[in-house]
Amino acid sequence: MPETQPILETTPIPETRKILLEVKDLTMDFGGLRAVDAVSLNICAGEIVALIGPNGAGKTTFFNCVTGIYKPTGGDVLVHPPEKKTQKINGFKPNRVTTIGMARTFQNIRLFQNMTVLENVMIGRHCRTTTNIVGAIFRGSTTKRQEQETIDICYDLLEKVGLVEFADEFAKNLPYGAQRRLEIARAMATDPFLLLLDEPAAGMNPQETKALDELIVRICNTEQIAILLIEHDMKLVMNISQRIYVMEYGKEIAQGTPADIRSNPKVIEAYLGEDTDA
Ligand SMILES: Nc1ncnc2c1ncn2[C@@H]1O[C@H](COP(=O)(O)OP(=O)(O)OP(=O)(O)O)[C@@H](O)[C@H]1O
Ligand SMILES: [Mg+2]
Repeated sequence: MPETQPILETTPIPETRKILLEVKDLTMDFGGLRAVDAVSLNICAGEIVALIGPNGAGKTTFFNCVTGIYKPTGGDVLVHPPEKKTQKINGFKPNRVTTIGMARTFQNIRLFQNMTVLENVMIGRHCRTTTNIVGAIFRGSTTKRQEQETIDICYDLLEKVGLVEFADEFAKNLPYGAQRRLEIARAMATDPFLLLLDEPAAGMNPQETKALDELIVRICNTEQIAILLIEHDMKLVMNISQRIYVMEYGKEIAQGTPADIRSNPKVIEAYLGEDTDA
């Protein structure tokens, strides 16, 4: 491991980049346990940012606070949606966070296993359609047009994640790696400007991980969706992230570029280990 100075306190973000998510001093207590302790993090348009750290560091809890599963005990979660007003979203319900334009996947896959692949993606799209119960019963021309639009958009998304030939298969019949890609398609169906992925490569074989790596970069570059990624696969993290934040015991212990993080003594000690080849 090369001898380097500890990384800079903050990695400057180019001024031309618009901040989409700004989290300041986020704190989450569960009784006496402080799972997240004053963590701050920014994500800009066009970025892939990773959040890494040992098991139990507080990464998923951080996601849960940002996406409305938990109301944080302290700190601020600010979103700056493209061309819309800034909003403080502490305590917003998950569906409201999704409607604003932040979508997520889960560490433990949460698909509707007995529904088809296409139907799973269509459920994601629901927050962008206006069909109400009256429309659903009478199925007027607007409803029918919207339904067809939804189907077309969802097929298109399945094409993008490489699952279109499985559209009519039950989700439960897909291999594990494909289920993870289906979760990503469902999240993309909500039309997000930011996608939060919680361990998308967990349980994948090396080929699936490589394909995932390319998919995430494509989503960011082609679909213009910024990515915040929790991941333990360091090869994937170091390959695709522009910036990395590191947590340990609820606290942020470092942030910087992959090169900064790889050579940061604190991170090596807490997480990467001396023999990392990431
Ligand atoms: N709902 C909860 N109630 C009480 N404690 C919780 C709750 N959710 C998480 N914790 C605790 O908060 C800490 C952080 O957990 P979290 O799941 O956020 O870690 P993580 O960094 O995502 O770990 P991993 O890499 O294993 O997924 C752990 O000690 C965990 O037991
Ligand atoms: Mg986790």
